[in-house]
Amino acid sequence: MKIGVLTGGGDSSAINDGIRAIVIDVKDRGGEIVGIRCGWKGLIEGDIMPLDVCHVEDIANTGGTLICTSRTNPFKIEGALDRIRENIKKIGLEGLIAFGGNDTLTVASKLAKEGLKVIGIPQTIDNDIFGTEYCVGFLSALRNIVAATNMAISSNKSHQIEMIVEVMGRDSGWLAVNSALAIGADMVIIPEFEVRLDDICSLIKRNRARGKMHSLIIVSEAIKVSGAKGLYNEIDNFGNIKFGGIAFALADEINKAISVKPRVVVLGYLQRGGMPAEQDVINSVMMSAAAVDAIYAGNFDKMVVFNNGRIQLVPLEAASEGISTVNRELYDLANRLGSRAC
Ligand code: F6P
Repeated sequence: MKIGVLTGGGDSSAINDGIRAIVIDVKDRGGEIVGIRCGWKGLIEGDIMPLDVCHVEDIANTGGTLICTSRTNPFKIEGALDRIRENIKKIGLEGLIAFGGNDTLTVASKLAKEGLKVIGIPQTIDNDIFGTEYCVGFLSALRNIVAATNMAISSNKSHQIEMIVEVMGRDSGWLAVNSALAIGADMVIIPEFEVRLDDICSLIKRNRARGKMHSLIIVSEAIKVSGAKGLYNEIDNFGNIKFGGIAFALADEINKAISVKPRVVVLGYLQRGGMPAEQDVINSVMMSAAAVDAIYAGNFDKMVVFNNGRIQLVPLEAASEGISTVNRELYDLANRLGSRAC
């Protein structure tokens, strides 16, 4: 059996461990496996690379994706679907495993309706794919945020100054809320729930009044700050706005209101890279093995999900049904613990 693997959208750590598991598993079963380079772009262009055990034996515990990625939307490129059909024939693909976020898996689901034999693995640091509690890469990004914030905050304690840390996550606050809980931040602001500037300023003033001058506020990149824009003015071909830098606008607003200018750290791509977290690797490997099982069982058009500690298969179109967002209880808990005064 000839199987392809591709990775689309933003990279994350723990993808390579999944690719490694897939290659070894397929080879063990006597199959052939190829990497489709740069996501859907590779399937449009017929850009493939051989994958053998020797290509993947040293990629365990590495960041990024060996087979590269892109944010290519074949449904926005004239003639792309015909070229995909031709290439599937030319390569002799009998099954495909696609790692990616909402966009990549929505494309996979649409292509499945066109006859592509595909299994999706949810992979995004945003952890926002509908139908699964966990996405590959999330735990490594969370670990990176906690480590980087811990490094930054020691300077703020020393200089007695507040800090805003901006994290990725698009329209879901999973990274922000979970890192706030893990670090013990004073406040977390996420796109799901609106916060008034007054409440942010009150927290800072309350903390200052009791001698705490280094309040830590974690914000998601997609929060709204009085009509301000981030640093970029770009939209990709899935219609996604490029976020980044909104924390600077928030720091300015706080300064205007109470003459306190928090320092700003925008963690950016530091969050996505580096050695993966152990549990991310274990989950990625297990979900990849489940994807190979599904391919060999002929159980296509499915997404491998991780819920309540169990790996299951659900219809792939679940990925297009919306995004997974943070619930009120978790958000309130993070803020309640953060704003507690001594
Ligand atoms: O979807 C993953 C993600 O890291 C988002 O959190 C972020 O908004 C986006 O990708 C950044 O995209 P790019 O890599 O295109 O700059």
